[in-house]
Amino acid sequence: MAGNPRILVVDQDFETRAEIQKGLVRAQFIVMGGVGYGAEALSLASELKPNVVLVGVEDPPSRALQTIESMSELLPDSPIIAYSSLTDSESARKAVVAGARDYLTKPLKMNEVVKAVQMALSQHERRRALLAGDSDTSPKSAGMIITIFGAKGGIGKTTTAINLASAFVAINAGSAVVVDMDTVFGDVAMMMDVPVEASLVDAADKVDEMDRESIGSCLGRHSSGVRVLPAPFEPTDWRNVSPDGVEKVLTLLAQTHDFVILDCPATFTDLVAVALDRANVVLLLTSLDITSIKDTTTALKLLSNGMNNEEKIKLVINRPTNVNSVGEDDVSKVLRREVVWSVPHDAEISASLQLGTPVVIDRPLSAVSETIREMAAMLAGVEVTHGGNGRDTGPAETGILSRLFKRE
Ligand SMILES: Nc1ncnc2c1ncn2[C@@H]1O[C@H](COP(=O)(O)OP(=O)(O)O)[C@@H](O)[C@H]1O
Ligand SMILES: [Mg+2]
Repeated sequence: MAGNPRILVVDQDFETRAEIQKGLVRAQFIVMGGVGYGAEALSLASELKPNVVLVGVEDPPSRALQTIESMSELLPDSPIIAYSSLTDSESARKAVVAGARDYLTKPLKMNEVVKAVQMALSQHERRRALLAGDSDTSPKSAGMIITIFGAKGGIGKTTTAINLASAFVAINAGSAVVVDMDTVFGDVAMMMDVPVEASLVDAADKVDEMDRESIGSCLGRHSSGVRVLPAPFEPTDWRNVSPDGVEKVLTLLAQTHDFVILDCPATFTDLVAVALDRANVVLLLTSLDITSIKDTTTALKLLSNGMNNEEKIKLVINRPTNVNSVGEDDVSKVLRREVVWSVPHDAEISASLQLGTPVVIDRPLSAVSETIREMAAMLAGVEVTHGGNGRDTGPAETGILSRLFKRE
């Protein structure tokens, strides 16, 4: 659709109409007007041809339902979304039978209205494309891209990537693929005991000839169902990889998988820039030792500067050792950021990985597995980009940490 979607709001109640119109304008929609039910609404709609029509349904619902029915016949290309304070399923069913595509209940939350409008439009686009014989109708990018980054090696980035992917599959949240973008160590395939038949470099190289079907042939499969796009066997093979090709691969993977997990090295390379840019969520890992915290501070500064949506960075503590020189609260204070998840130490994690089995599968009842499953469930079910992150937790307090960061 060219330009911002144009919306018509049909409601007998002037105040409700005005409230919704205001919210829609704030969300960058073009509001073509507000109008009451019946002939007035129909003539305005046929004149203005809105992309979406919102119709308020209140008791008694008959006029609203009649308006929906006539409107859906008059403008079959404009999806109708009903909203109402009638929360019973029969009222919702009647609105849908009359021709509404969706039914929202009051009190309306503006972000839900916006989502419903966007969903109605993209569904409509896909149906239209299907009718026009265009088989390429899947959403542009359905999957969530999760980039695992950390300022140091050995802090559990790869372990988290692999276990998180396995957890998504284990909790039935959807399909998951781990992409090994670590140009130095690239050990995902080895840690998952998956043979390397094709690598990210191969996929990026021939991405222009690939589509959603053929990208699958580049992926390895772990027995858990997690797919893997490994690093090349020879690290020197990275030399010729183009960030543009990698970005296209990520797009294809996000179109074909629910969760695309990018395991990054501890450096800012061109590929890491792509991984950070394309991420819906960045899990920034730190361990509880002083050098890791110091490096994470620097990384956070660099990340925040170069990123348009800083909210997507989620701080995660991992404990690769049980010798922790810094307390969890101190991390939050020093980094001025909420710790979103805190993964416990588990001395047997590497034993599981030696067998090529992520701990969430090998020992699902362990504390570490429970934490990673919780992380997966929240990422899968909650709108994480708007989490209460970035909270100012105040300045660092006393001790070694405050000395280290006193120039702040
Ligand atoms: N929570 C944890 N408890 C115990 N050991 C861990 C934990 N997380 C990671 N490890 C171990 O730490 C080592 C480094 O992990 P790895 O994921 O390879 O780090 P990175 O990818 O950041 O370099 C591995 O041996 C791994 O088994
Ligand atoms: Mg690693």
